[in-house]
Amino acid sequence: MATNLSLLDRQDQQLDDYRFEPRIVEHGTVISIGDGVMWIDGLPSAGMEEMLRTDDGSLGLVYMLSENRIGAMILEETPGLRAGIGASLTGRRLTLPTGDELLGRVVDPLGVPLDGGPVPECPDIRLLDRLSPQITERGFVNKPLYTGNKIADTMIPIGHGQRQLLIGDNGTGKTTFALDAVLHQAGRDVCCVYVLIGQKRSTVAQVIETLRTSGALAYTTVVVAEASARPGLKYLAPFAGCAIAEHWMETGRRTLIVYDDLSTHAQIYRELSLLLRRPPGREAYPGDVFYLHARLLERSTCLSAEKGGGSMTALAVVETQQDEIAAYIPTNLISITDGQVYFDHKLFASGILPAIDVPRSVSRIGGQAQHPAIKRESARMKLDYLQFLELEVFSHFGSKLEAGIQARLTKGRLLRQILKQDAQSPLSPKAQLAWTVAFNEKFLDGRDQDAVNAAISALSVAADTSSLTLDSPREDWVTQIRRWLP
Ligand SMILES: Nc1ncnc2c1ncn2[C@@H]1O[C@H](COP(=O)(O)OP(=O)(O)OP(=O)(O)O)[C@@H](O)[C@H]1O
Ligand SMILES: [Mg+2]
Repeated sequence: MATNLSLLDRQDQQLDDYRFEPRIVEHGTVISIGDGVMWIDGLPSAGMEEMLRTDDGSLGLVYMLSENRIGAMILEETPGLRAGIGASLTGRRLTLPTGDELLGRVVDPLGVPLDGGPVPECPDIRLLDRLSPQITERGFVNKPLYTGNKIADTMIPIGHGQRQLLIGDNGTGKTTFALDAVLHQAGRDVCCVYVLIGQKRSTVAQVIETLRTSGALAYTTVVVAEASARPGLKYLAPFAGCAIAEHWMETGRRTLIVYDDLSTHAQIYRELSLLLRRPPGREAYPGDVFYLHARLLERSTCLSAEKGGGSMTALAVVETQQDEIAAYIPTNLISITDGQVYFDHKLFASGILPAIDVPRSVSRIGGQAQHPAIKRESARMKLDYLQFLELEVFSHFGSKLEAGIQARLTKGRLLRQILKQDAQSPLSPKAQLAWTVAFNEKFLDGRDQDAVNAAISALSVAADTSSLTLDSPREDWVTQIRRWLP
């Protein structure tokens, strides 16, 4: 057996095994470089998504194969990269080190630290792009993921392993919602990954600062490919984030990943595809843009108990233009995900924050994960609220309203007031239950705006410190809430 041979014997063996024969090593030549891509001649055996190195040390990723020329995204570039330089294939696909060492770090999609710290030494090397878990390896989404947001946790609940879209025009509070959800995972044993794709440097700085000051960075990895990064890196960012989260999911832990945002990602993919002369389809996006995002989001799931029971919940941000949710990329993403939280710019403009449009938002599977107590209270409330929103539209036409209708309008307006929530002021599940019970029991009726806000704050503090749990009987909650209310 070769393994039992001493070193000298092994060397003898190697000499015996050595065969003098010609070996074929392909060596190509860079033909042209520009806009983050390069074209290379003379590498006929290149494979899709294979890495290549040029003689100056730059790194490329093969992304277009034609008869006698290949196109590659440039991932790392030295000042020496120019046309005429040699290039060779590495025979490897792109990988990334993943593990707990990445918590609290800011890295680029290749794992290079951007926070000035040392290179994270992680033992688990993973492929950026790989197949999603098989159906048989998946479990059901049945545990709630609390975002701390009043509207989401009651009326649009999210479960661990769910893929939820945050959709809306620019500047309507999508990033704020996603960040708040990450902040609210403190002490809940959830590892988070925040992927910033093609964002302005000011936004990147703001997100990292918010995470740092709130202490959330300790359990979060930030993957950044800012607006000025090479298109290849921006394209890879969500896959890198997903690989990092996958490590935790596969070690039986719970993760939350935010892709901010996928519409920019689709645009970068379009740009790269056009530069690499791949055939354009609708709106000039390549035909496989649907597959691109389906492949990414299918990797978020809840694994079965045999596979460790880990989960990866995804919040995918997508920006719409002038409310157009029927555009190509938003409709694709809506059909891939398990629901969407819709942010409306008219609500935002009228100061209703968070500007979530409840009738247009939906969570297809989160209801199964919601705690029965919160579900019971929210179901009643949501129905009331949706009816109120319809009634309100009609009430604009008639001047005289029946007393019953007037009462429902007043109640709806009260609820809208209650649902307003500042950024970075999340509510715990018990606090959510307390205010919903108080609202359904009409304990908050007849109070003015300040009094309602004061009542909710009092309820939150009391609920968090009380010995009641979500499983306690409803009567106990009602009795306590009566006492707690100012
Ligand atoms: N609930 C809230 N309370 C107070 N301010 C809010 C709230 N939600 C959002 N904002 C404010 O609205 C502004 C826009 O929010 P945000 O950046 O989250 O929007 P966005 O949809 O991510 O924007 P973009 O499309 O530019 O990425 C920010 O200044 C933010 O502080
Ligand atoms: Mg944003």
